[in-house]
Amino acid sequence: MCIRDRAYTNRQYIVAYTDAYHGSTYGSMSLSGVSLNMVRKMGPLLPGIVHVPYPDCYRTLPHETEHELALRYFEAFKAPFDSYLPAEETACVIIEPIQGDGGIRKAPAEYVQLVYDFCHQHGILFAVDEVNQGMGRTGKMWSIQNFPGIRPDLMSVGKSLASGLPLSAVIGRREVMESLAAPAHTFTTAANPVCCAAALATIDVLADEQLVARSANYGRYAKEQFLALQQRHPKIGQVRMYGLNGGIELVTDRQSQQPDPDFASDVIYAAFERGVVMITLKGNILRFQPPLVITKTQLDTALTVLDEAMAAAEQGLVKRPRGKIGW
Ligand SMILES: Cc1ncc(COP(=O)(O)O)c(C=O)c1O
Repeated sequence: MCIRDRAYTNRQYIVAYTDAYHGSTYGSMSLSGVSLNMVRKMGPLLPGIVHVPYPDCYRTLPHETEHELALRYFEAFKAPFDSYLPAEETACVIIEPIQGDGGIRKAPAEYVQLVYDFCHQHGILFAVDEVNQGMGRTGKMWSIQNFPGIRPDLMSVGKSLASGLPLSAVIGRREVMESLAAPAHTFTTAANPVCCAAALATIDVLADEQLVARSANYGRYAKEQFLALQQRHPKIGQVRMYGLNGGIELVTDRQSQQPDPDFASDVIYAAFERGVVMITLKGNILRFQPPLVITKTQLDTALTVLDEAMAAAEQGLVKRPRGKIGW
């Protein structure tokens, strides 16, 4: 995606975010900022990429409103442009409007609007990564639709696009897409006909089975259930849910908001022993991303198991292999 940004704008720099996950090829790994193990032994990474902080709406300053937080992070976004990053040489800003691997975290709409306006003012393309959060996951077809009025120049899509068959896509404004002439950026296996057929079938199923609405409805239900669990389990610091898509942040206590990766490992191990497979994000955040076709019964079973798993972890009853669980 960023190759096209560069080609279209004839500019070199790209702005990405801390805690972003954009993939593990050389270019996308250089854009990512979520895991040391992704970059260890890999460097030097691509030059010309600047990472700015992604808004954290959980660990705010005392008494900070969302408006103040949006302005604070926008100042941090602009800071590089004041000192070492020429705006007129910047090709694009790439953002996950709702971060996936960064913890299912949603940037404030006002912040995204400010960044978007800044991009427009400076001829910078605004690109969104929908690989994790697109295709109905957030209760809208695309996560950027949770931000009214924002029309990205480019989007990357993958994962559920072909229901598990390997396919990804870049969707964008025609003039940006046509900025590279063949055979630039072509691949032997690109647009594999079987995978493309699977993608078309997937889009049909999303529409026929109304899976986007299902994601929104079941997501609302799951959020209520997780908020009820939060009443019973003091280590649930924050419940974030956008569609059938949640980050349940586990902390040592709500006052300190200190991440509790040991507790999170206990919970997912106890859940695994009871038949529910779940991983964590950033060590302490439960990644709740069930398939959109999950039934209500399966959802209820998973929630009951998580309740039991948390109780077991609180009582110190979980006997798991030592060390880190998950990735
Ligand atoms: C937001 C985001 N972008 C890109 C990717 C990379 O996709 P792939 O693993 O298909 O290269 C991922 C994978 O988790 C992702 O979550």
